[in-house]
Amino acid sequence: MASSLFAKKSLADLKEQAEETESSLKRSLSALNLVALGIGAIIGAGLFSLTGLAAANYAGPAVTLSFLLAAVGCAFAGLCYSEFATMIPVAGSAYTYAYATMGEFIAWIIGWDLVLEYAVGAATVSISWSAYVVSFLHDFNINLPPELVASPWQPVRLPSGELVHGIVNLPAAFIVAVISWLLITGIQESARVNAVVVVIKVAVVVAFIGAGIAYINPVHYEPFIPENTGEFGHFGFSGILRAAGIIFFAYIGFDAVSTAAQEAKNPQKDMPIGIIGSLIICTILYVGFATVMTGLVPYTELNNAAPVATAVDRTPFRWLNSAIKLAIICGYTSVILVMLLGQSRVFFSMSRDGLLPGVFSRIHPTHRTPWLTNVIFAIGVGIFAALAPIQLVGEMTSIGTLLAFVIVCAGILVMRRSNPDVPRPFRTPWVPFVPIMGIISCGALMLGLGLGNWLRLVGWLVLGVVVYFFYSRHHSKVRASAARH
Ligand code: ALA
Repeated sequence: MASSLFAKKSLADLKEQAEETESSLKRSLSALNLVALGIGAIIGAGLFSLTGLAAANYAGPAVTLSFLLAAVGCAFAGLCYSEFATMIPVAGSAYTYAYATMGEFIAWIIGWDLVLEYAVGAATVSISWSAYVVSFLHDFNINLPPELVASPWQPVRLPSGELVHGIVNLPAAFIVAVISWLLITGIQESARVNAVVVVIKVAVVVAFIGAGIAYINPVHYEPFIPENTGEFGHFGFSGILRAAGIIFFAYIGFDAVSTAAQEAKNPQKDMPIGIIGSLIICTILYVGFATVMTGLVPYTELNNAAPVATAVDRTPFRWLNSAIKLAIICGYTSVILVMLLGQSRVFFSMSRDGLLPGVFSRIHPTHRTPWLTNVIFAIGVGIFAALAPIQLVGEMTSIGTLLAFVIVCAGILVMRRSNPDVPRPFRTPWVPFVPIMGIISCGALMLGLGLGNWLRLVGWLVLGVVVYFFYSRHHSKVRASAARH
């Protein structure tokens, strides 16, 4: 049994699978589409909500350094992702890579873990989307009933002034349903919508930097690294690390590009461009954004849900606030889209391999998308978004994603040994340094996320192990074919 847990998919099988699936999924995405897909997935709640929080509570103006630190971890992982994505251009991302390198059980674990990144991540951003919609409508004196825009764990104030708990977050569930519908009707249409949204989103970040840069007060950068309070993670160098763990959420998404490898026109060339290109663009935008934000407002005043509005208020461009909120709402939409897309593609691959029931890989006869997966996740993620508290789901997303990154980096080390001669259109540079640094840096960010998140991660993985031993290993196609030969 032990050896069967490590049953691997051969690269020849993967190639065959890619060719076979080619007829069912359309190859319609160009390099530019892929960069847009990356940026669409990356810029979102992490930048617009967490930057201010991380600056105010953990890093001060040095949150800029936290962005660079998190980017370094992502870059190591991104280089490893690129090698895999070009070597194995099959839908499924980290899951597929693990199947080829570390065997079925680890592949299952990572596929199961990716639910935290994609499905739980989509729920997180949907909850934040809902908050911005409420705030935007409030600017126009339209006030939605407070209990219907918050989870049962979130305190809300009624018009009477009474503080109660929410009942259900309806806008969050609504946006999940709308995006799922877009995905069901076809990836090409979805990519087109995504491209428009990405332009709006990048324009807002650039406009914020452009409008704010002249009003920076250098006094706000003193001290740049506020002194540690005596508690680990509260300012000083440990604070920069802690803040990096928090704003890591802002980078999640570049790996989603790899889940669309099978729908790329020219995966060998376009995958590294999509992954590394979107990561570089976002890092530049984030560092500029954080520098301007902490230069406009003393970091101690950024501890609120809408730090962008606080910063814009310090410029003569206050009228920009509603426009910025609207752009943020649009920006979140594309993040949710790419996350739900990634989720359906990972489960599509797992189902094709027999590890999950066949409904997850059924293709719609007209739209040629795995529509039943989209419907199932629309319901699951919608319920989650309607009921879960945002902080919890945000941190779960981060820890789950970091685990996936660690496994992908380890996979490069394994693959270079086990299949040294397989053609690699893109080679991760400086192996083993880059993958090892990826493991160390992402591992350090995981440690920063604390015991509670580790326990929840272990709980989710234990559930996955139970499903594997009761269902998946009995239906695995790779194991069945190994038994026949
Ligand atoms: N990176 C995405 C965001 O910040 C998940 O919303």
